[in-house]
Amino acid sequence: MKNISLTLAKKRKNDKFYTQLSDIENELIYYKKHFKGQTVFCNCDDPEYSNFWQYFKLNFDHLELKRLVTTRFYETKESYMLEMWKDEKGVHSDKKVLNQNGDFRSEECIELLKQADIVVTNPPFSLFREYVAQLIEYEKKFLIIGSLNAITYKEFFPLLKNNKIWMGVSIHSGDRKFYVPDDYPLNASGCGTDDDGRKWIRVKGVRWYTNLDHDKRHENLLLYKKYNPEEFPKYDNYDAINVDKVSDIPVDYDGVMGVPITFLDKHNPKQFEIIGLDKQFTSDGARGKLNGKSKYARILIKYTSQ
Ligand SMILES: C[S@@+](CC[C@H](N)C(=O)[O-])C[C@H]1O[C@@H](n2cnc3c(N)ncnc32)[C@H](O)[C@@H]1O
Repeated sequence: MKNISLTLAKKRKNDKFYTQLSDIENELIYYKKHFKGQTVFCNCDDPEYSNFWQYFKLNFDHLELKRLVTTRFYETKESYMLEMWKDEKGVHSDKKVLNQNGDFRSEECIELLKQADIVVTNPPFSLFREYVAQLIEYEKKFLIIGSLNAITYKEFFPLLKNNKIWMGVSIHSGDRKFYVPDDYPLNASGCGTDDDGRKWIRVKGVRWYTNLDHDKRHENLLLYKKYNPEEFPKYDNYDAINVDKVSDIPVDYDGVMGVPITFLDKHNPKQFEIIGLDKQFTSDGARGKLNGKSKYARILIKYTSQ
């Protein structure tokens, strides 16, 4: 099946892909302990359409939240926020007008961000770098959806390398269905319309990124292959062996190994150390080559010395 790629989505300025409730539920089950007594902010979420707002509203008591805030973005006019909060008298909700347009970078939204403990959303793909930079600047906990390609962004990779961000649990391959606005042109084959008339498209290479701890990232990747130089040759242009499949990482190789970027789906920082991205290790920014032929993007890793 042909799918629209996130790169294409990123190029389209109106990246309004709405996340399915089931995708949110399937990820959030791994983080319940983090939410008790916390303020959650969904800062790219029109409450009319966003299942993030729906999810937290429905699970406000179950997660024992203190406060939930969502802001809606309008390109050219003032917007509004919705909030729910709990005090000794019970749960309250309110809708408030914003003076600005609900841009996550606006002063008002930054003020709300400062009040929040955890940010959870699927931000606009085209502003992903800026979006993450802001979360890091304000030292927020977060769980967000982004493109798999973000791994190779020069601002983003160091966060993964230094264990400031890691992958979520529930999406490690394939594509995901996202709802799109009614006027969205459906011209890829991976798209359609639900019985209730809602349009959707399938998007490849989507991942959850977070700095909330979860059990999966402490599980070792189980490996069985032994190193041999024929199967795992060294690159022409740097001192590391090439491994084409994550499940084939040799159990007994002490040096640096170049592995596909999907390695990060399985990364346990106690098992492996991330050395860097392939392109950082050559003076001309070239990827690893075998017999003069470039390989796909690789992450360089080695076993930790424990
Ligand atoms: C990928 S969509 C996801 C929507 C929603 N979070 C969800 O997952 O269903 C990104 C959303 O961000 C909104 N958006 C675009 N630019 C924004 C900005 N500068 N600040 C806040 N939201 C923005 C879009 O209108 C869109 O609703």
